[in-house]
Amino acid sequence: MTTTPPDEREADPTVRQVERADLLDVYRIEQSVFPQPWPFEAFERFCDEPGFLVAELRTADGPTIAGYVVADLTPNFGRDIGHVKDLAVREECRGRGLGRLLLRHALASLEARGATVTRLEVRASNDGAIALYRDHGFQHRRTVPRYYADGENALVMVRERG
Ligand SMILES: CC(C)(COP(=O)(O)OP(=O)(O)OC[C@H]1O[C@@H](n2cnc3c(N)ncnc32)[C@H](O)[C@@H]1OP(=O)(O)O)[C@@H](O)C(=O)NCCC(=O)NCCS
Repeated sequence: MTTTPPDEREADPTVRQVERADLLDVYRIEQSVFPQPWPFEAFERFCDEPGFLVAELRTADGPTIAGYVVADLTPNFGRDIGHVKDLAVREECRGRGLGRLLLRHALASLEARGATVTRLEVRASNDGAIALYRDHGFQHRRTVPRYYADGENALVMVRERG
């Protein structure tokens, strides 16, 4: 994995479909970010999913995966519901619009494939992510007590396509 910080050319991030060769970088970001990270096999399972996208930055050492989003469609009584399952940006790359960019691309992918409703779960204490989701039209629908293994509640947030 490349550890060199992004250089000035980072202003031009690319969002693209994940490739198998990216999975180790994705997994390492996941491990560095979440207390209960997804196992590597979970990323392998979603590898062909069109809503599994990575944000790539050009660095002095070459292209670097700075973040990723995993989103898919679930059939639900005759219509497909979008689900944003995972979203993370490497800590040193945050606050520069990459989370927003990834989420926007994932929502566009889901909605282009027919999702009129998209949901997600987020830790009740995750103010940054909650602000990001609200900004993209997600509204808090309900709270799932002790959803996470450490006992924290999840907010279920839902976005209806406008
Ligand atoms: C949530 C996360 C993906 C945001 O990525 P990012 O690249 O830093 O986000 P952006 O720079 O695109 O910021 C977009 C918006 O998110 C919100 N936001 C992001 N980080 C925030 C923070 N620390 N505090 C408050 N708001 C924050 C703001 O509304 C921000 O918009 P603004 O810059 O206009 O104020 C990133 O912080 C992350 O990987 N966190 C750890 C993993 C995680 O919590 N994932 C979500 C799981 S549900």
